[in-house]
Amino acid sequence: MKKSYSFILSLAVLMGISGMGSVSAQEGIDEQKLIEVGKKLFFDVNLSVNKKQSCASCHDPAAGFTGPDPEINTAGAVEPGAIGERFGNRKPPSVTYTGESPNLSNDYYNEALGIETWAGGMFWDGRATGETLGDPLAEQAMGPFLNPLEMAMPDAQLVVQRVAKSEYAEEFEAVWGPRSLDWKKDPEGSYERIVRTIAAYERSPEVNPYTSKFDLFYDNARDAKKDIKLITTKGFGNSNRPKGVPLGQHWTDYRGLGLSDNELKGLAVFNDSQRMGADCASCHTFTEGSAGYPLFTDFGFYNLGIPKNPDNPFYDMPEKWNPDGEDWIDYGLGGYLKSSGWDAAVYEPEMGKHKTPSLRNIDQRPSPDFVKAFGHNGFFKSLDGMEGIVHFYAWRATMDDGGMGDGGMGGGMGPGGGMGDGGMTPNLSLFPPPEVDENRIAMKPFNFMMVGDYLVAFLQTLTDGYEPSE
Ligand code: HEC
Ligand code: HEC
Repeated sequence: MKKSYSFILSLAVLMGISGMGSVSAQEGIDEQKLIEVGKKLFFDVNLSVNKKQSCASCHDPAAGFTGPDPEINTAGAVEPGAIGERFGNRKPPSVTYTGESPNLSNDYYNEALGIETWAGGMFWDGRATGETLGDPLAEQAMGPFLNPLEMAMPDAQLVVQRVAKSEYAEEFEAVWGPRSLDWKKDPEGSYERIVRTIAAYERSPEVNPYTSKFDLFYDNARDAKKDIKLITTKGFGNSNRPKGVPLGQHWTDYRGLGLSDNELKGLAVFNDSQRMGADCASCHTFTEGSAGYPLFTDFGFYNLGIPKNPDNPFYDMPEKWNPDGEDWIDYGLGGYLKSSGWDAAVYEPEMGKHKTPSLRNIDQRPSPDFVKAFGHNGFFKSLDGMEGIVHFYAWRATMDDGGMGDGGMGGGMGPGGGMGDGGMTPNLSLFPPPEVDENRIAMKPFNFMMVGDYLVAFLQTLTDGYEPSE
């Protein structure tokens, strides 16, 4: 990490205050009790200015710890703050499986790109860097309480005071010790203990249970000594491994381990960087986290060319919060680096990049018809279908590759697609142009009409709480 990094400024960006006290690591702390208190903090609406909003108001477990309101998801995808007419500018990401993100830094080796790149931190733009507390997840939790567009508390002291007056204050002090919630003498230290307690809950097995259909399959594959990273789309159309395709490379080699044929085909497409593959796993990686299961993120930053979400309510926020009005552009990591004082040579190549989210629980919803939003601004409203995010990947890659082969853009399928050309004329305008065109990453084109449904079927295996039917 470069030393020109602006520590104080980053803190100010994050939460509008500075001068945190230092709380030593959680030595001798009862982890289970810590998690229980953390859960109470996460769900406590009293910790917002008008006692109406908790962390869970925007990160609802039933929706995979993201936005709980299908109407909002259908439109701007930004949850209102505690003060209802105030809105931030991005879609809430899931808080599950995110606690293993390292601190934000520019010296991580990116295997797919073969160079050192930025990775880590919290938020879509990485601005909860982890520099202040040595833990990006705890540091992230310092933000929402004090963000005027979220829980809107005037200062950290009042947050501590509210916790000190809560029903679970005694439990908190039983975990952290007497006077650990001292809003008069030690507001900074107390606030830090609060956010570390929340982070403990966010990292707990309850929030990260690894109980998806995929996890069961992963266990079975491991027991059978099979490495799922070998799976390819070689001999894809064959329902048995053709001669010449090495063992482990055909999707049928993974039958009987808990995934259906379609889900296995989806896994093959997800993983393969050649042939029929979509190469999703180059960023949503199979790299195992501390629990021994893939996290589906490299914690890196990329510009996929996602369009603006015209319904983003932030465009209409007063000048105080959005001086650019309708012209506001979400520059992601680059915008953050610029605002925190890095040189143009550092931030320019990062403009428009957002953090790779884990795909775990991407399809978790309270009911099948509940609309979720996808992407940092919630532009996409579905995984599947012509307007879904999976088709966007195929379309974007194909556009950049000369416009052939996505199989789903012309030929009368998309609006405006011409007939009689065998489906080879891409519908150039199916998706609006990228919000930021610079620094876009080249992606692997794939035939959406042929493999899109398999990919979606695979993504749906990542939802926790799976119960095998027999
Ligand atoms: C008003 C809605 C809202 C509330 C309330 C809220 N969040 Fe968020 N949360 C968001 C949004 C939006 C983002 C993404 C913001 C960004 O990237 O700029 C986010 C990002 C996060 C992230 C980052 C995840 C990642 O992978 O980068 C975590 C963790 C998180 N919130 C936890 C919390 C906690 C803990 C609280 C309570 C202290 C909370 N949130 C309250 C909307 C909310
Ligand atoms: C070059 C790296 C990269 C590749 C390859 C990639 N992704 Fe992503 N993915 C990202 C990033 C970065 C984001 C967040 C982008 C944003 O919102 O601006 C993302 C977001 C997503 C989301 C939305 C997540 C959310 O919480 O809203 C889904 C779903 C997704 N990707 C699925 C896929 C699938 C399926 C593939 C393969 C077809 C794929 N990704 C390939 C980097 C990648």
